[in-house]
Amino acid sequence: MILRVEGLETYIGEFHILQGVSLEVPPGEVTVILGRNGAGKTTTLRSIMGLLQPARGEIQFQGQPITGLPAHIIARKGIGYVPEDHGIFSTLTVEENLRLALGSRREELLEKVLELFPDLKVALRKRAGSLSGGQKQMLALGRALVTESRLLLIDEPSKGLAPFMVEKVGEVIRQIKEETTVVLVEQNFNLASAVGDRYYIVDDGRTVAHGEVAELVRDTSLQQRYLGVSLHRH
Ligand SMILES: Nc1ncnc2c1ncn2[C@@H]1O[C@H](COP(=O)(O)OP(=O)(O)O)[C@@H](O)[C@H]1O
Ligand SMILES: [Mg+2]
Repeated sequence: MILRVEGLETYIGEFHILQGVSLEVPPGEVTVILGRNGAGKTTTLRSIMGLLQPARGEIQFQGQPITGLPAHIIARKGIGYVPEDHGIFSTLTVEENLRLALGSRREELLEKVLELFPDLKVALRKRAGSLSGGQKQMLALGRALVTESRLLLIDEPSKGLAPFMVEKVGEVIRQIKEETTVVLVEQNFNLASAVGDRYYIVDDGRTVAHGEVAELVRDTSLQQRYLGVSLHRH
């Protein structure tokens, strides 16, 4: 396992938000985290990334404990994070955003990422704030990719995007998977089931079910119980 999370509990202020989240993430796969709005998915990613301090539980990355380490150290160890709000700098250009993330890494890396995102290549001189929602998401993914992370945590990349852009996000995640392990939080069940290998369901701050995505696709009662999505599938 590239990532193991065991019995994670996190408070935000006085609120006991995570009350027992456990995950095992095999390398080379896309593990999707599903669950209703407010279930604790974002809090889980933020806790893994060191942006929130867990009160209890253990997180291991590549066999090493990382629980409680600050976010910049965790990033340096090889975990990338694409937050829900993209985490891009609106007043900087696309290129400046990418170069900031690239740092002193090889220039070829930037070229490689731009090949994956032709939309960004033509928009290099544009201010990130002027991009469409879909382009911002591509820039956020591009920024994460130039950091050469071993593991990428991606939070709801399809949020607010038109259906054709959601499909594009799916293609990009499939390509990312060729080189990087992915933990994907996703509310869009069609996207989650199209790219995911394994799933975890988080409900009320706890992991309540997990298995292969192919099984979940067949298990409409589980979908209805925790996700309320099966009626929307076609
Ligand atoms: N800054 C905060 N202060 C208080 N409660 C919060 C804060 N951030 C999140 N929460 C609460 O924590 C719970 C889990 O939130 P979150 O992890 O964002 O859920 P999800 O990503 O699954 O929609 C929700 O009930 C939310 O209201
Ligand atoms: Mg969230």
